[in-house]
Amino acid sequence: MSFRVQPAAPARPNRCQLFGPGSRPAIFEKMAASAADVINLDLEDAVAPDDKPQARKNIAEAIGGVDWGTKTLSVRINGLDTPYWYQDVIEVLTNGSERLDQIMIPKVGCAADIYAVDALVTAVETQLGRTKKINFEVIIETAAGIAHVEEIAAASPRMVAMSLGAADFAASMGMQTTGIGGTQENYYMHRDGAKYWSDPWHWAQAAIVAACRTHGVLPVDGPFGDFSDDEGFRAQALRSATLGMVGKWAIHPKQVALANEVFTPSEEAVTEAREILAAMEEAQKTGSGAAVYKGRLVDIASVRQAEVIVRQAELIAG
Ligand code: COA
Ligand code: MG
Repeated sequence: MSFRVQPAAPARPNRCQLFGPGSRPAIFEKMAASAADVINLDLEDAVAPDDKPQARKNIAEAIGGVDWGTKTLSVRINGLDTPYWYQDVIEVLTNGSERLDQIMIPKVGCAADIYAVDALVTAVETQLGRTKKINFEVIIETAAGIAHVEEIAAASPRMVAMSLGAADFAASMGMQTTGIGGTQENYYMHRDGAKYWSDPWHWAQAAIVAACRTHGVLPVDGPFGDFSDDEGFRAQALRSATLGMVGKWAIHPKQVALANEVFTPSEEAVTEAREILAAMEEAQKTGSGAAVYKGRLVDIASVRQAEVIVRQAELIAG
């Protein structure tokens, strides 16, 4: 272990982030009534340019006007390459209540992007006398974003979460696909007449998880576009969870239950983790650093692995 201890990520459930366009206030109450842990009201790509001013008003009103319960409430602003983002920040913070928890910054490419938004948010917060500090979440969805992923994760104490945005990421990387996440038809190995599909998102996801875990930020898998493909969503989400991500976006309400199911440790997994902890406790009583559980080696590292699962289950339960 490095002398520098790995910081813990925020201890809050983030299994599903449900998105809805800020230009469609009729669904805000439905979003609030959903089982998603995080709500993302969008000002960016789901809102047409002419609708941005009205969407800002809708969102500012809904922040305090809708009962969001204990959900984390986030607004996705426009990217720093647009003329919209500073007004998004100023109007949402000025006209919305203190109920807002975080701002999502899309298409970040370097730590200086976060610095710029931090400077503006700090000035607005101070001017308004807001007592609750706004957190940041970002989307890694450009070549620059993935190239600078670690400095972005470390960019501000406001940073709490980071998502992979598969569609914009694919476009920025020049990937030959129009699919939003999931299996890509042409990404396969071939042997003896059979195709074996591989995962083109894997390395970007692993890079995001490593950057996030280094700096105490929650790593999240972004959208899965084909909301009629439940099994495709489940497979993508299971891979993300296995790699260390804590949740996934829902771009349609039917994806919320799927995400919650995958990112809640199963009863079997929790039972097994607890049994491993118990087996190790017994072993340590006899001065042994290792034990046998169901015919396989468990040691101190197994304790840390089991604790990840138990901690996650406890966090979601309570
Ligand atoms: N959150 C909550 N409820 C939603 C919803 C959402 N994002 N999207 C749709 N609903 C509701 C509908 O109002 C409808 O409710 P009803 O049964 O009471 O009439 C129900 O869920 C079924 O909706 P459906 O007809 O299947 O979808 P739609 O055609 O109304 O909308 C989308 C489909 C994809 C346009 C819509 O889900 C959407 O805008 N998703 C988010 C897009 C987004 O924000 N993208 C940015 C991030 S990638
Ligand atoms: Mg995007």
